[in-house]
Amino acid sequence: MNEDIIRLLNKDIEGEHAAIIQYLTHAYAMGEGELACEIEAISREEMRHLDWLAETVAELGGTPSFKRGKMRKAGKIAAGWMQDDVLAEQDAIAMYQEHIKAIGNPKIKRLLKRILSDEMAHRGKFVHFVDKVKKEKTKDLRGTKKGRVAEILNWGIEHEYTVIIQYLLHSYLAPSEEVKNEMQDQAINEMQHLGWLAEELVSGKGTPRIEHTAVDKSRKMADMLKADIKIEKEVAAEYARAAREIKDRSLKDLIMRIQGHEVYHADLFSDLLKEVKDKGKKKKR
Ligand SMILES: [Fe+2]
Ligand SMILES: [Fe+2]
Ligand SMILES: [Fe+2]
Repeated sequence: MNEDIIRLLNKDIEGEHAAIIQYLTHAYAMGEGELACEIEAISREEMRHLDWLAETVAELGGTPSFKRGKMRKAGKIAAGWMQDDVLAEQDAIAMYQEHIKAIGNPKIKRLLKRILSDEMAHRGKFVHFVDKVKKEKTKDLRGTKKGRVAEILNWGIEHEYTVIIQYLLHSYLAPSEEVKNEMQDQAINEMQHLGWLAEELVSGKGTPRIEHTAVDKSRKMADMLKADIKIEKEVAAEYARAAREIKDRSLKDLIMRIQGHEVYHADLFSDLLKEVKDKGKKKKR
């Protein structure tokens, strides 16, 4: 019974994941501005949906899926993107309606209805945005710039995306409230990093590649934290190296700001690991 619900909710999570990345891709491509902000706000609502659904899956004893559902990646025309986002919302609406019918648990039903009402509002917004981008002649600001700086930024984006997923997964699986909260907080901080890097890349006429690499799937808290510390130390070193290569002052500062955060993350996770170990020792005594 639970397995069936977990399977459905995981499909929902995969859909939210795809929507988040699809919308962010569009927002970044537009550059700074009111519309990009509105789209990012919708994307943040999808993140909350993902979070609620993943918590529910974990409560049911399942593992939240971090596979990404199908994304629509239309070409260079902003009206086409907004049309794709309308379609994404329509898919989500149909899926939630189906899952509300299929699931008997009243608490989960209520949650899905709550999410469904957001998706309906989002669809309306994207319909409106189709006209808006036509009127405002919104352009695709992404370019084909390659080279070392673009390479560094895309490497950073890939790293940030990977740790966002890894820390979220760890937060859902960690039994300790403290570890859970810290993991969530740091995942949010990594989302900021991803946004900064992607915006920087677009403003330099590059194109963000929002893909991730393998995430750590440890189940034991100490193992999770060890993996998280390892990755933070590696990327802190890599960002420091990258910053030395970058000539542009403000980009250098940005990379060093992110690097400082990563050092902080490594220290924070190290403290948590120490606490987890100390607690383990006390239990044994
Ligand atoms: Fe959603
Ligand atoms: Fe980061
Ligand atoms: Fe980090």
